[in-house]
Amino acid sequence: MIKKETIDRIVETALVEEVVGDFVQLKKRGTSMIGLCPFHNEKSPSFNVSPAKGIYKCFGCGKGGDSISFVMEHEKYSYPEALKYLAKKYNIEIEESEITPEYQAEVDRRESLYIITNYAAKFFEKTMWDTLNGQTIGLSYFRERGFRDDIIKKFELGYSPDEWTALQDKAVADGYRPEFLEETGLTVKNDSGKVYDRFRGRVMFPIHNFTGRIIGFGGRTLKTDKNVPKYVNSPESDIYHKSNVLYGLFQAKKAIRDLGNCYLVEGYADVLSVQQAGVENVVASSGTSLTTEQIRLIGRFTKNVTILFDGDAAGIKASLRGLDMILEEGLDVKVVLFPDGHDPDSYIQKLGSAAFKTHIELKQQDFIFYKTQILLKEAANDPIKKAGVIREIIESIAKIPDAIKASVFVRECSGLLNVEERILIAELNKIKLTKLKKDYHQGSNSETRNHLPAAGGQKPENSQPETQSWQPEAGSSKPETLETDEYQERELIRVLITYGDVLVNWDEMTDTYIGPYIITNLSDITFNDKLCERVITYYHDELDKGIMPTEKTLIQHPDKEIKDLAIALISSPYMLSANWYNMHHINVPDEKTNLKATIMGAIFHLKKKKIATMVINKQKEMQAGNSEEQDNILMKDYLQLKEVEKYISNYLGSVIIK
Ligand code: CTP
Ligand code: MN
Repeated sequence: MIKKETIDRIVETALVEEVVGDFVQLKKRGTSMIGLCPFHNEKSPSFNVSPAKGIYKCFGCGKGGDSISFVMEHEKYSYPEALKYLAKKYNIEIEESEITPEYQAEVDRRESLYIITNYAAKFFEKTMWDTLNGQTIGLSYFRERGFRDDIIKKFELGYSPDEWTALQDKAVADGYRPEFLEETGLTVKNDSGKVYDRFRGRVMFPIHNFTGRIIGFGGRTLKTDKNVPKYVNSPESDIYHKSNVLYGLFQAKKAIRDLGNCYLVEGYADVLSVQQAGVENVVASSGTSLTTEQIRLIGRFTKNVTILFDGDAAGIKASLRGLDMILEEGLDVKVVLFPDGHDPDSYIQKLGSAAFKTHIELKQQDFIFYKTQILLKEAANDPIKKAGVIREIIESIAKIPDAIKASVFVRECSGLLNVEERILIAELNKIKLTKLKKDYHQGSNSETRNHLPAAGGQKPENSQPETQSWQPEAGSSKPETLETDEYQERELIRVLITYGDVLVNWDEMTDTYIGPYIITNLSDITFNDKLCERVITYYHDELDKGIMPTEKTLIQHPDKEIKDLAIALISSPYMLSANWYNMHHINVPDEKTNLKATIMGAIFHLKKKKIATMVINKQKEMQAGNSEEQDNILMKDYLQLKEVEKYISNYLGSVIIK
C-alpha cells in the first residue's frame, strides 16, 4: 500500500496543467486553460483545465477529473500505476512509511537544484541577448551558422561569459546558495579549493527533461583549437541523469505524438536545424550511445523511430547493434543516410529544408532491410560470411516482440537473402528457445516476474531482466503493460482457438469438444485482458446458439481486434508457447500428440496464476489489523486457497512434466 502521505504529496505536486500539458497542448483562457480533448476527436477545443481547482473537464465528451485520473484514463494505468508514474515524473519517492522531516528536506533540496539550474539558464540567455560580448560572440555565432532567432529562443540558447566566476558571483549576490551551484556542476572546485564556473565563453544549450524543466547544459566552444574540448557538459546530478534524457524531447513531444514518428539525430546542432526546417518531431541522443531508457522514453510517444545518420560507413556499422535494442523495445526502426559526410544540420544548411524533406522521404529504409543490404554487400560471394549474415539478420528479427511483424520480415528477408523461409524460421526458433532457456535458468521466467510495469514503461532501477518482451503485440495492448496473468490468458485463448473444435474422449466415457470443455472449466475465472475476455464471451454466446466457433471463424472475425489477436496467436504458436514448453522440456511439435496435457496445462497454469493473486490479496487483508473473529475467517479462506494452489501445483507437476 502506498501511504496516504505519499499520495497527498503526489496530488499536491502534480499540477494538473503540467500533467495534462505533457499530452495536450493547452492555451490560456482567462483563469483556465483550454485544448483539444485527447479522449475524443474534435476540431475545436472543449477540453478545459482549471489550475486553480486542479481539475480538467471536457465539455464535449464529459470526461473529467484530477491529475491522477487523467493519467489513469490517458495512459490506461491503474490507480497505483498512475501514482507511480506521477511520483516518477516529479521525483517523489514512493514511501511505505510516513514521510520524515529528512525526506521532506531531500525533496526541498532537489527542488532547489531545479531552481538554480533554471536561474543559470536565464542568466546565460540574458547574457547572450543583452550584453555586448554575448551579442557579438554568442548570438552572432548562432546566426552565422544559419539559426533563426525564433529557434534560438525556442531552445533557450545562451552564452556564458568568458570569466572565471561570473555566474557564481551573480547567483550568490542574488541570494542563491553556492552548494547548489556545485551540486548541479555549474561550478567546479579545484584541488586547491578554488571554486570557478564550469562554463566559460561557450554557447549554451540548456537540456530539458520531458516535462520542460531545465536539468543541465551542453556548452560548445567557439574556438577551433583542437586542444579545447568541443563540448563541456553538465555532470550527472540528482536532477540530471544522462541515460534517460533526450535532447529536444520537450520541444518535440507533441509533434512526435501527433505525427506518430520520431527522428533521432546525433547532435544539438542537428536538432536545431531539423526543427528550423519545420520538422518538429526530432530528438538527439547527444553523442552518447542510445540507452534503453531513452528508447522507452520515445516509446511513450510513438512506436516509430527514424534514425538520421551521417553517412560515415564505419559509424554505421558500429551502430547496427545499438539499433537492435530499439527493435527489442518493440519500436519500428527506419534509417536515412546522408551523402558525402553530411549530417542533418550541414545538409539542411547547404541544400535547404525542401531538399532535406525530400531526402528523408525518398531514402528512408526499414532498418532490417538496410542492415541486410549492408552486411550482404560486405559478404559479397563468400558463402561462410553469408551464413554469418543470415544469423545476424535473424538475430535482429528475433528481437522484434510483435510476432506478426517478425514473420513479415522473415518472409521479405528470405527474398533478399535468397534463403527459404522455413530455414529462416527454424533459425529464428533456435535463437528464441536459446534465449528462453537462458532466461529460465537465470530464474527470471514469467513465474517470478510479478512487479508492476513501472511508470512510463521505464524499468525500476533494480528490476529483474525483462523476459517477456517477445510476446506478440496483438490488438491494441502494449507489451509493457501486459501483466503476468495475461501471458497465461493468451496461451489459453490460443489453445481454445486452435483446438476448440477437436473432439476428444478423455474420460473414456463421453466424447467432448475441447472448446466447450475449456469454457465450462473457466466459468469461475475473470480475465485481466479485456480482449481475451471478449473472445471468451463470444465463444460462449456462439456455443449457446449451438454454433461451434473454429479457427477460421475467429481469423475472419468482424471485430478487428479479435481477428488480429487470433491471427497473432495462431500464426506464431512457437513464440507464444515456447516458454511454457521449454520449462517442461516438451518439444513444440509434441503439442498435438499430447493434446490433453496441452489443454489441461493451459487451464491449470491460468488457474494457478489467478489463485496466486488471490493468495496475495488474502495475505494483505490479514495484515490489515482485523478483529480476532475476522482473522479466523480470513485464515480459513487463506488455508483453503493454499490447498487449491497445492493441488494445482501437484497436478501440473505430475501430469504435464513427462
Ligand atoms: N558531444 C559531446 N562532447 C564532445 C563532442 C560531442 O558531448 N566533445 C555530443 C554533443 O551532444 C553533440 C553530439 O555529441 O551535440 C554530436 O557531436 P557533433 O556532431 O560533433 O556535435 P554538433 O552538435 O553537431 O556540433 P557542431 O555541428 O557544432 O560541430
Ligand atoms: Mn554537427
